Amino acid sequence: MPQSLAMSLARPAPAKSAVARPLTVAIVGATGAVGAELIGCLERRDFPVGELRLLASPRSAGTVLTFRGTPLTVQALDEASFEGVDLAFFSAGATLSRRYGPLAVAAGAWVVDNSSAFRMDPDTPLVTPEVNGWRLGEMDGRLVANPNCVAAIAAVVLAPLHARRLIVRLIGSTYQAASGAGAAAMAELRDATAAALAGQAYPPQVLAHPYAFNLFSHDAGIDPETGYNGEELKVMAELRRLLGAADLPASFTCIRVPTLRAHAMALTVRFAEPVSVAEARSWLSAADGVRVVDDQAANHFPMPAEAQGQDDVLVGRIRTDLSDPSGRSLSLFVAGDQLLKGAALNAVQIAEALREAGRL
Ligand code: A2P
Repeated sequence: MPQSLAMSLARPAPAKSAVARPLTVAIVGATGAVGAELIGCLERRDFPVGELRLLASPRSAGTVLTFRGTPLTVQALDEASFEGVDLAFFSAGATLSRRYGPLAVAAGAWVVDNSSAFRMDPDTPLVTPEVNGWRLGEMDGRLVANPNCVAAIAAVVLAPLHARRLIVRLIGSTYQAASGAGAAAMAELRDATAAALAGQAYPPQVLAHPYAFNLFSHDAGIDPETGYNGEELKVMAELRRLLGAADLPASFTCIRVPTLRAHAMALTVRFAEPVSVAEARSWLSAADGVRVVDDQAANHFPMPAEAQGQDDVLVGRIRTDLSDPSGRSLSLFVAGDQLLKGAALNAVQIAEALREAGRL
């Protein structure tokens, strides 16, 4: 068993914070699709928030959002936004994270960054708490990277398998929802679909291609050397980091599909030794953050419509990959909420784990 995974599976009992001191929490990107879910997760999980500071662009300054029944006014992000902040969630893109993340840390805050800015920085831990939460107890800095949504969702399913049988090859195809491209892409899916049903033209505005009744390759740019797009390369690199498998051969094809907020993916996984379907099912059934949905008789398997709004990642269609006669490969189908486990929930779980580790 890889050491990192053995450690995360045998997580020590959390250290209790001496006093659950309410924290001053900031959300950068509070008006976005992930921002709304961050507010919801903090509320629902009863995170000890004393003051919540909602930050966005100057366009949204003055907008009123609600937290625990209290109206809060959104402020424009600026360099003084982090004074007195204990914890800042960033979800407004990599450029702003690069600029303001270090300022927040310098002002004394812990930062959980949902952008790609620091995910491959060797000094910044990239964390999915169920997979490698132990890193939070050991880190030196105060900035934690929240993984790409596909990587986070795939990792919670792959880690419990990798902990028992080393994964030696990974192939994935994704079916990614609009939410991954933000609130404006979700609105575009609704509007483009309504227009198509009304027989009206709808020129794409946020995404590059017509979205209604269509699907297309992920909009991230293509790397001319490999032919993979930026999203595929991110997912492959981040999964290697999360699983502690630096050399894992992996190949992903990332596709945007017209669903609103839950990603799905087909994974084909080869292990160093044979794994039976029954073994995989039992390991996945016992894993934190995973729910097996694998009813062959009813043909009922993971679906975005059932994954949305759920904290757990759904996994099913667990079967031996017939293209690998060695019996060492399994195929799986997975669905997980992009805005929850793929973003806001994972970020709040990181903050909870920091608190349990006595860091925050
Ligand atoms: P705003 O709504 O004011 O544009 P999404 O990923 O759903 O598109 O959301 C992006 C988030 O990032 C929004 O909250 C957006 O705020 C915020 N944002 C975009 N540009 C800036 C900026 N220059 N300063 C602060 N927040 C920004």
